[in-house]
Amino acid sequence: MSHSPFPQRAHDQLALARGESDPAIKQILLESALYYFKKDADSNNQFARVERYMANIKMARIEPWDANLNPDDITYDVNDVDDILAKKILNDLEQRGISNIRITAQSPEGFVVKSLAKFIGPLTKSQNDFDKDVIQLIEPKPTGAANSGNTLADLGLHVDGTQHSETPAVLIFYYITGAKVGANSIFVDTAKALLDIDEERRYEILINMARPDAATFSKKNMVHTGPIFYFSPTGSLVCRIRFDDVIQVHPDCLKDYEFLKERFNDPQYAIEFRPREGDLIVFDNWRVMHARDEVYGMTVRRHWRGWVSTLKPTLQPRHYLGIRPVPTAIAAKIEAANAQ
Ligand SMILES: [Fe+2]
Repeated sequence: MSHSPFPQRAHDQLALARGESDPAIKQILLESALYYFKKDADSNNQFARVERYMANIKMARIEPWDANLNPDDITYDVNDVDDILAKKILNDLEQRGISNIRITAQSPEGFVVKSLAKFIGPLTKSQNDFDKDVIQLIEPKPTGAANSGNTLADLGLHVDGTQHSETPAVLIFYYITGAKVGANSIFVDTAKALLDIDEERRYEILINMARPDAATFSKKNMVHTGPIFYFSPTGSLVCRIRFDDVIQVHPDCLKDYEFLKERFNDPQYAIEFRPREGDLIVFDNWRVMHARDEVYGMTVRRHWRGWVSTLKPTLQPRHYLGIRPVPTAIAAKIEAANAQ
């Protein structure tokens, strides 16, 4: 780090924080590091860097999970949406990357998605080719387009918005009617699946798949080419991947892609449940992949969907998203590979 003009006082506080095991003291040291950083550093680029550094120190605030996670542990039965609920959701988003809210007797209308998003961050103005911030999907039909929520067939693990220049940080799904059979939702924590890979191999994959031409995503006349692992403008490590024919992978990344495909699809990582009518599922799209198995029967499910582009600026110093922990040296290599 000696080559970068990293402010000394912030550096000292971070070093202390790194060695501190008491979470409360660690938090105070991190806050004071951030204070000195804002005071002493001279560019926004540096600010993103320190955020990333701190996110890694805060690995205690991530709880990677696998199939053992009980969906009941991320489900809240509540009477209304208020700031207490918002805190729980933000906490879950940071630690496990997913939350499920059940609001008593609330009819599932699009405005619920909007009011919830107010606690988290701005909704994107459009989603794929829909020019709306909250859209009502998805009535799966046998004739529906493949690889979209409109097909009855099994939907492979993916993240949303892969063909946009920025993938949305957080997704909000609000279920109006559920299927009676099939249509289970599947979620996988990529942070956990990655952590279980031997360290050296894991970093090799992260860096190799950080090349700017790692993958090309083509869907609905939209095309995006970019890295599979990269840092968001807010300093979170994003995983942009999918296992279907929307993605085309660079030949030099194919081996790693197939490796990850097998790992991420391993049932030991998947939680699976059928959302109930009125369930509001909020999750970190930079970290948690989702899928849905085949829909059966006459009752098809519909849901509202909102894409939150990023956390509100006021939340960014406090709540971390994306894949972590990643050591600073590896983060620097990923960043360098992104910029090739
Ligand atoms: Fe999706």
